[in-house]
Amino acid sequence: MVLILYTTLYKLGGREMELAAIHMAKQKSGAKAVRIESKAEFIAAIQGVEEPIDELHFIGHSGLYGPMFGTTRRPDQMSRSDWNELNIRFAPGAQAFFHCCRGARWFAPYFAHRYGVPTYGHASYTTFSHSPDVYVKVQEGREDVYVVSVPGYKSRGLFGYARKRLGKAPTVPLTRFEQIPDEDGSYDGVAELYDQVFIDFRVRHDEWIWLSKHLQRDGAVVDIGCGNGALLLALATLIKRGLGIDVSKRMIQIASHRARGEENLSFSEYDGLQIPAETGSVDVVVSMLSWRYLDWDPIVAEIKRVLRPGGQLLIVDMVVAPFKPKLLPRMLLDKSRHFVGGLSAPAFRKALKRLVEDPAWATMLSHNPMRAEHEMRNYLPSRFPGIVVETLNRTPRTEMIAFRWTPGSTGDRTGG
Ligand SMILES: C[S@@+](CC[C@H](N)C(=O)[O-])C[C@H]1O[C@@H](n2cnc3c(N)ncnc32)[C@H](O)[C@@H]1O
Repeated sequence: MVLILYTTLYKLGGREMELAAIHMAKQKSGAKAVRIESKAEFIAAIQGVEEPIDELHFIGHSGLYGPMFGTTRRPDQMSRSDWNELNIRFAPGAQAFFHCCRGARWFAPYFAHRYGVPTYGHASYTTFSHSPDVYVKVQEGREDVYVVSVPGYKSRGLFGYARKRLGKAPTVPLTRFEQIPDEDGSYDGVAELYDQVFIDFRVRHDEWIWLSKHLQRDGAVVDIGCGNGALLLALATLIKRGLGIDVSKRMIQIASHRARGEENLSFSEYDGLQIPAETGSVDVVVSMLSWRYLDWDPIVAEIKRVLRPGGQLLIVDMVVAPFKPKLLPRMLLDKSRHFVGGLSAPAFRKALKRLVEDPAWATMLSHNPMRAEHEMRNYLPSRFPGIVVETLNRTPRTEMIAFRWTPGSTGDRTGG
């Protein structure tokens, strides 16, 4: 059977998504188009099929980690543990198609690997068209709608606009991914090189200044995705005790070795789902450059469980963010600050170059990309009402964002 699942509520374009799904269902014999608006409905639709699936299509919005469900006010997304638990009954020779933005960057290869079926995705952004081959602006009243990708960054700008209006913008076909052999995508393979770069956390000025300004002193701190433990080592004299947790065995070994003699610090490998701490026993939960990898819904429940009322959640992460011309002055300022900062830390720059040029780094990144800005900016306020968001620095395509939240703060009705 051909199962076409589509969403209409996350961001704009919902009506066109529905038209595209219905149009596709008419073109394929035995196809069923089902509107789903949440992760639970997605799972139910997949589990509810009576025959094995020959073709699975998803039409909707996507983050870098796959389809987005729900709304931007309350987004819903499958995490890696959700995919691990979901079995999909594919027929021999089955294929999967994700008609959404940027699905080819991480999600389609991941899906092909997880389910062992050839999977198709778009590397760039998608839009709607009356032709599958060349961009034709969608008119009210017509039902022959396709989701297509047009070359160029969102195919915007004067040139992109003119090309599209003149019917001269050919669409880019979906990219096909096959199952690849297993390879280690964890941080284990880059742990030593990573450690050499970030021996001292304070070399990361923007993050360190922000943390020093906001972190409650003298408390019990849990650092999720602690890596080589550099943050807790830098904080050792400012906190009562620190527990660093990470899924990488090698990172935990390095962190434990570095923290020999620091009585108030400990490091532990964990399953990525359950924080090894008593309910209400933690003053501060920190996550630095690791939020992108976490299983969001389970870890959010865990953070709310372990944090005491009045405690603190501090998150910093780098996201992929669209270029915004109005931020040009900010980008230039941040770039020159980093250039000047780098001049006084030649050893750091050398070690960083060694890390990013190592092939193991590229392998790790292909398994663990950054998130899209909207994935974090929409998700975190929806789960932590009243969370305060700040930009720490900006480049043309990335943003370093910081989030801080206190259980019971203004807007938080969860009670911690
Ligand atoms: C970019 S490093 C950041 C390390 C450290 N927080 C820092 O700022 O230097 C990301 C870390 O997240 C860890 N990680 C990946 N998935 C994780 C998960 N599900 N739970 C906890 N840590 C995870 C990796 O093993 C890695 O050590």
